[in-house]
Amino acid sequence: MKKRIMVTGGCGYIGSHTAVALIENDFEVLILDDLSNSNKEVLDRIKSITGIRPKLLEVDLKDSFLCDNMFCYNKNIDAVIHFAAHKAVSESIEKPLKYYHNNLYALINVLVAMEKYNINNFIFSSSATVYGNPDELPITEKNKTKRPFSPYGNTKRVAEEVLEDITISNKDLSAISLRYFNPIGAHDSGCLGELPNGIPNNLMPYITQTAVGIRKTLSVFGNDYPTKDGTPIRDYIHVVDLAEAHVIAVQRLLEKKQENAFETFNLGTGNGYSVLEIINAFEKVLNQKVNYTIADRRPGDVPQLYSDTSLAKTKLGWVAKRNLENMIATAWKWEQNYRQEQNLQEN
Ligand code: UD1
Repeated sequence: MKKRIMVTGGCGYIGSHTAVALIENDFEVLILDDLSNSNKEVLDRIKSITGIRPKLLEVDLKDSFLCDNMFCYNKNIDAVIHFAAHKAVSESIEKPLKYYHNNLYALINVLVAMEKYNINNFIFSSSATVYGNPDELPITEKNKTKRPFSPYGNTKRVAEEVLEDITISNKDLSAISLRYFNPIGAHDSGCLGELPNGIPNNLMPYITQTAVGIRKTLSVFGNDYPTKDGTPIRDYIHVVDLAEAHVIAVQRLLEKKQENAFETFNLGTGNGYSVLEIINAFEKVLNQKVNYTIADRRPGDVPQLYSDTSLAKTKLGWVAKRNLENMIATAWKWEQNYRQEQNLQEN
């Protein structure tokens, strides 16, 4: 029988790519999503790639009663991958309570239900933001976590601490926290990708939307950082590589290979690129100029974040396979396909 994986937030950017990777690896996927920042049509996209339309349960996991029902009426769950969370850094600074409420309530409700229904494998969608402004680069998992600059980031850090605590008291529970660096790119097919609500906060969707003509000018937030060209350096990672890491992490839990009840892994490529390098690479791949201007620094941005990837390599046997050109080419293919679809629907 296929192993059954509950994917909360499975209609979102990383969740949907992970659902595809799970299905391709012969898992059954059950998606839970409140569709607050995603759309049901993602299920058709997953079907067009895999041939299978996963079941969606539309639910707000902040509601403990509804969350319990999900587990009560859906038996034989082998593992839970928990993506469901708000993720806009700037909004979290304006509305911290919204972020603490949503991201932490949903997490706690899921964990309570898992304990009640005896489900013992949990993967958490974390972020390199838990390292704050790191003292040492590249960042290993041994780097101390620091208070992140945003409430969003802090929900990730607190969530990890919650997991650490409960894996100590609940001896049956095993959890893996995956700390993503900067996920970009899209599925090779061009029919699944990132769909930010409104004006994008993140660099890559802002670039593709500027290139496609929806945004006029990209603002480069600061060129006076202590880096090679003055713009911040990040470790960009292809979303399909990330998705594959989730499949490996699930297998690690199911095969009981973990060395500690709570494990954390960095997911990055180990390569740091500056904002200007990303823009240049984009211009080269597309042979098209991106309209940009230098603006003030964005509060909360740190100069450099890039990962040491050796732990994921040695313990999970995972390395990112896709290069920057592929990340850019797929992000662009997706942006163009999506806009074409929209135009067809409007006409
Ligand atoms: C942020 C979050 C991170 C989250 C990630 C993906 C923090 C500190 N960072 O990462 O937790 O996992 O988003 O959602 O909480 N930039 C521009 N112009 C733009 C947009 C971005 O110059 O219009 C620059 C930024 O200043 C930064 C780089 O591009 O130097 C990357 O920014 P972004 O894509 O937003 O990711 P992070 O802030 O690194």
